Amino acid sequence: MKKKTIYTCQNCGAESPKWLGRCPDCDQWNTYAEETIATPIATSNRTAFLDLKSSPPKLLEEVNAEEAEHIPTKISEFDRVLGGGYVPGSAILVGGDPGIGKSTLLLQTLCHLGEQNKKVLYISGEESAAQIKARAKRLSLNTQNVWIVTENILEQILEVLKTEKPDLIVVDSIQTLFSTQWNSAPGTVTQVRESAAGLISWVKTNGAACFLIGHVTKEGSLAGPKVLEHMVDVVLYFTSDQGHTFRILRGFKNRYGPTHEIGVFEMTAEGLKTIANPSQFFLSERSQRTIGSVISTSVEGSRPLLLEIQALVTHSGFPNPRRTTLGVDASRVALLVAVLEKIVGFSLSDQDIFVNIAGGLKITEPALDLAIAVAIASSFKNVAIDPKTIFIGELGLTGEIRGVTHIEKRLKEASKLGFTKALIPHTNAKQPLHVEGLETQALTNIEEALSILF
Ligand code: TYD
Ligand code: MG
Repeated sequence: MKKKTIYTCQNCGAESPKWLGRCPDCDQWNTYAEETIATPIATSNRTAFLDLKSSPPKLLEEVNAEEAEHIPTKISEFDRVLGGGYVPGSAILVGGDPGIGKSTLLLQTLCHLGEQNKKVLYISGEESAAQIKARAKRLSLNTQNVWIVTENILEQILEVLKTEKPDLIVVDSIQTLFSTQWNSAPGTVTQVRESAAGLISWVKTNGAACFLIGHVTKEGSLAGPKVLEHMVDVVLYFTSDQGHTFRILRGFKNRYGPTHEIGVFEMTAEGLKTIANPSQFFLSERSQRTIGSVISTSVEGSRPLLLEIQALVTHSGFPNPRRTTLGVDASRVALLVAVLEKIVGFSLSDQDIFVNIAGGLKITEPALDLAIAVAIASSFKNVAIDPKTIFIGELGLTGEIRGVTHIEKRLKEASKLGFTKALIPHTNAKQPLHVEGLETQALTNIEEALSILF
């Protein structure tokens, strides 16, 4: 057997015959790792487990184009992100930092689907069957129809799949699997890619579905799931902010449904709970003091989300005043501060400015501009903002207030949560807006907005 050594970028999967300090494909430093490939075995035997059938070409005209059938997981926030549920024959990648709750989410999902008489299989390369059982018990899950196998050799797993023929599998995690056809270590790009390819190919030919759990690490000691993103049908990322109990499941790619949809969960002692009304959740701890606190809306996927922007402007003791932002883009805030200085005439060059989205959310949407500017102005001038008013609009460099998308959705959400007034861009006010209980006022520029308030 002839061995061949190649170097693979652990970030993007690029290959090179020699070691490189910087990957020419993804521009990352120190990501190349040596991988030894047993070429002849690999190429001759690889097809053995792939169930290859020749597929003759068809006329596109004659192809049945039925809508993909979505099978709901019955976890409402998960279904929302998936576009109604999972689709048989598809592969779904769920990525996220260690400890975020990926195993918990998918164990809950499997148990739900087991209850609906699906044959589900949990393939664990990380935790023992006893650990998983203990977790399921603690979460009072019904494990009746849930099968488990602790295995990380791809060929063994494919054997199990061939005999058991499950409807749905969860692989926890894809980084722990390896194929004996390749000599590189588990977690390297080659192993992750080949393991995923083997599983996906089985899933597609058997009409099953698989959820692949992928860890994301900064150092790249494990292959980041970037290479997997091209191979799977759906890519979801599970994120949170440190110290907060909420978790956001975000869709990045979906061949069977909408992308950029989000699902909101809370991690509790009883596992992950869906948060059906995130606006209410994120506003629940709103302070009674309304100086520097402004409510605005963001649209995530198809759902409007109300959130609280907080700003604190204080006199600075330093020659270079601080500009600190959490959850919002720092350069966006710098731009808005410049507009407030130049157009409105505020003198902010000796002021420290802190801007934050309450609750730990991270949002980059220009529709929040007006709210951020008003929050800064409110704190600077020490003037309270009416707590029942919301602010929507993008701010241009000349101080003009520009229109936003989905205005009606945003206003309806505000009205639902008891807001009575909305300040909105004049271009959005041109269309008829029918929102009960909400008075709207159109704005053309930032001076106008501030003159109404102060
Ligand atoms: P886990 O699902 O193991 O994360 P991942 O698979 O993404 O690494 O979840 C781990 C964390 O979640 C752990 O720190 C404890 C916490 N947790 C709870 O707070 N409540 C629960 O009911 C469970 C199961 C976990
Ligand atoms: Mg886990």
